[in-house]
Amino acid sequence: MTHSIIFDTDPGVDDAQAIAIALRHPEVDLLGMTTTYGNVDVETATHNALLLAELAGRKIPVAQGAAAPLIKPRHAPPAHIHGANGLGNITLPTVSGRAESRCAAQFIVDTVNERPGEVTLVAVGPLGNLAAALQLDPTLVDKVKGVVVMGGSIREGGNVTPVAEANMFNDPDAAARVLTAGWPLTLVGLDVTHRCVLTPAHMARIEGGQGELGRVLAGSYAFYRDFYQSALGIDGCCPHDSCALAWLLRPELFTTSRGHLSVVTEGDAEGQTLFAPEGRDFIEDRWSRTPLVDVCLGVEGQTVSDWIAEVLA
Ligand code: RIB
Ligand code: CA
Repeated sequence: MTHSIIFDTDPGVDDAQAIAIALRHPEVDLLGMTTTYGNVDVETATHNALLLAELAGRKIPVAQGAAAPLIKPRHAPPAHIHGANGLGNITLPTVSGRAESRCAAQFIVDTVNERPGEVTLVAVGPLGNLAAALQLDPTLVDKVKGVVVMGGSIREGGNVTPVAEANMFNDPDAAARVLTAGWPLTLVGLDVTHRCVLTPAHMARIEGGQGELGRVLAGSYAFYRDFYQSALGIDGCCPHDSCALAWLLRPELFTTSRGHLSVVTEGDAEGQTLFAPEGRDFIEDRWSRTPLVDVCLGVEGQTVSDWIAEVLA
């Protein structure tokens, strides 16, 4: 089965790994990439998306999107994790392509309306572009084939605060709109991405299999690996964004639960994703009013990690 996708991204080291999968996997028809601030500023995200497609020898539309959160002040990009250039501060080839003149939200609305029922939105950064697309055309909820979001955390705790995952924390208001919009949505959060580790051996295979793109993936990985060693004490990195594509292409490797999501948008818990399993009664029904979605709670982590390397080797 071929999946026609729009990849919404803030590349970013792990985004780049996922973009490489989207560019190379035979079952993925990459209709375009939309960029957002998050790991980097949106201009750098756009540059990196254009570069990665060119390194893979592909002409893929890239539409620039959100430069800041919907409401809260923007946090500085995590240069200590992804590098100031978003790709581990390695020297990068020049980019010849240019972004679309349309903004990300318009590109999403146009593309989904051209192909009703066929397009899956795969979002692996803060969710401002999807929120803006919903604002532009609320009927999108009935026209997308599905939405896959890398973000959130149900039982795992947070990675930027004790309870919040980065993409949700970066724009909790956009997340609240996107995760409760009523479209078919699967959340791929830290509960599963933290069970996957892309090891140096995996990356050596990837570097050997991807030419100049492999050099960029391996060089940026080296920077990211240092952060994971110091922050989490693991030798490798969690391939967060590739897990979103792993769920789409190999769903049998994941276990999901259906229920109601809500996002805390202010206070100490801002960015926390609250999950009420379908049918569970709580003291009030306010956590069970939002449309049903699926959240990933389990994964065959080693198999997913090996699959990523296999796809890119
Ligand atoms: O929390 C992990 C997520 O935040 C990933 O998408 C990573 O690229 C960063 O954007
Ligand atoms: Ca990302």
